[in-house]
Amino acid sequence: MTQLRLLGFAGSLRKGSLNRSALRAATELAPQGTTIETYDLDDIPLYNGDLDVDGGPPPVRDFKERITKVDGLLIVTPEYNYSIPGVLKNALDWASRPAYESPLAHKPVAFFGASMSPIGTARAQSQLKHVLLGTLSEVFPYPEVLVGAAHKKFDESGIVTDPTTGQFIGKLLGAYSDWLASRR
Ligand code: FNR
Repeated sequence: MTQLRLLGFAGSLRKGSLNRSALRAATELAPQGTTIETYDLDDIPLYNGDLDVDGGPPPVRDFKERITKVDGLLIVTPEYNYSIPGVLKNALDWASRPAYESPLAHKPVAFFGASMSPIGTARAQSQLKHVLLGTLSEVFPYPEVLVGAAHKKFDESGIVTDPTTGQFIGKLLGAYSDWLASRR
């Protein structure tokens, strides 16, 4: 069986974040052979081109090294004003440097998202796809997972309390793992 390592991060810094809960849930739902390491974006500073030398400040260098070491990324994003949160965009901006030769270039990326609204991050995911296009990363296309009414579907410890949500996340991780294994 192919062993796959994923790095997962959520676009929210909130302790009680639904998306951080969803990421914790995903770590338990990955298929056999796939491990999801999680990364908190708390220490990533705001992008500043003046600091973007020698790989950037230490937290940024650490983040980029962690991306380089894994087979693929798993992003779990909230939706802020129909788009992705600044926290996530900022982290992706850092990781996208140097342009076209960054750790994101040709890196497989899957994502999903959770929000309280009925359409569960549809607009944010569409925008995330567009941003990732600019980084030359390779977006896993299907299945898409949009968790609406997310406050009713996870508890704060990352346990999925809604079985259908757990099945959808499990299917995404299974298909993503198969896709990654087929590219080796
Ligand atoms: C939101 N929220 C939100 N929800 C949504 O479905 N569509 C949206 O456009 C927005 N816009 C938005 C903007 C800002 C500035 C905030 C703070 C919030 C609600 C958001 O999805 C909700 O707070 C989630 O719970 C945030 O994700 P975490 O922190 O729980 O992971």
